[in-house]
Amino acid sequence: MNNTIGKAEADSFVPAAPIEITRAATLAPLPRPPYGFGNHFTDHIATLRYTEATGWGEPRIVPFGALSLHPSAAGFQYSQSIFDAFKAHLQPDGSLAMFRPDMHIARLNRSAARMCIPQVEPQMLMELMQRLCDLDRRWAPSDPGSALYIRPTIVATEGFVSLRPARDYLLVVFLSPVGDYFAEGSAPVRILASDEFVRAARGGVGSAKTGGNYAAAMYATRAAVEQGYSQILWLDGVERRYLEEVGSMNIFVKIAGRVRTPPLSDSILAGVTRDTILSILRDSGAAVSEEPIAIDELFEAHDAGTLDEVFGTGTAAIVSPIGRIAYKGKEIQVRDGQRGPTTQWLYDKLLAVQKGRDNDPQGWRVTVPHFG
Ligand SMILES: Cc1ncc(COP(=O)(O)O)c(C=O)c1O
Repeated sequence: MNNTIGKAEADSFVPAAPIEITRAATLAPLPRPPYGFGNHFTDHIATLRYTEATGWGEPRIVPFGALSLHPSAAGFQYSQSIFDAFKAHLQPDGSLAMFRPDMHIARLNRSAARMCIPQVEPQMLMELMQRLCDLDRRWAPSDPGSALYIRPTIVATEGFVSLRPARDYLLVVFLSPVGDYFAEGSAPVRILASDEFVRAARGGVGSAKTGGNYAAAMYATRAAVEQGYSQILWLDGVERRYLEEVGSMNIFVKIAGRVRTPPLSDSILAGVTRDTILSILRDSGAAVSEEPIAIDELFEAHDAGTLDEVFGTGTAAIVSPIGRIAYKGKEIQVRDGQRGPTTQWLYDKLLAVQKGRDNDPQGWRVTVPHFG
């Protein structure tokens, strides 16, 4: 889909308005590790409102609390809502650095375009999120593998019933100190390739980060979890043959020494971690390509002894080894269920860049200023 911004959306841009900050009267006690994933929320949230007449405005930071929404808000009724998610990490010098926030803001705006939500001015959103992270920086966890998770969300708030894009929106950003995404920690996970359910169709909204994609995945995922798997390996919705994504991760395989990941399409979320991993692999001189991978090929490679490694990538899951894959009643084990060397190297390398232990030639880290 075209990523350019149309005139209607450009008209909604607002110059950086002063952010109104209301501090929480009392600060919550900090949680102790292990944090789990998404169980704790910081003292404040950031909000921005959109009306057709005024565009995006009223940037605010307020104490954390519930939102009040019209019962027929299109965000509730028709799922006209989007979000994105990324992390900020404590650095060795005590500063806090967001990881590739520009890519996440750009993806939020691509999701917005697909869901008929007005574009947000990137600088405005960046400043709002930086101010929020600065204010709640005491929540940034310092133990390995943990981070401050940042979730910008936009929901259609206009109360009406007919089917058209809403005229009013609320953008809200919340923060959460997080640890491991999987209950298994960093141990290899067992996944099920579904030949029954699909996550996204060609021409649909699979490449947008919109809640409906996650709701659509729940039924099949719950059934898989009940059978002892941790995620679904989604195949393409047309031929039910090619790997697309695994749970909320992009998928990579290493077959006969070559690392491959499916090419992006409108049914795959363009992961920022995927992009980072491709870049790290290419810079290291590894053999890597973006090309379709058929599920049969994976099982054939296993039988031929050339299936070296399989892993998923994502902000939440970082780089997660996949130890077992089931499909149509057959289950294969990758590397005897152990984490492979490429998976481990990429995990270490990615965390080292994110946590400031490695240099950052690409400028992926963005330091959160002290606003005072
Ligand atoms: C469906 C889906 N695919 C892939 C990803 C990985 O994307 P990223 O690396 O930007 O977190 C996510 C997580 O955001 C996701 O929800």
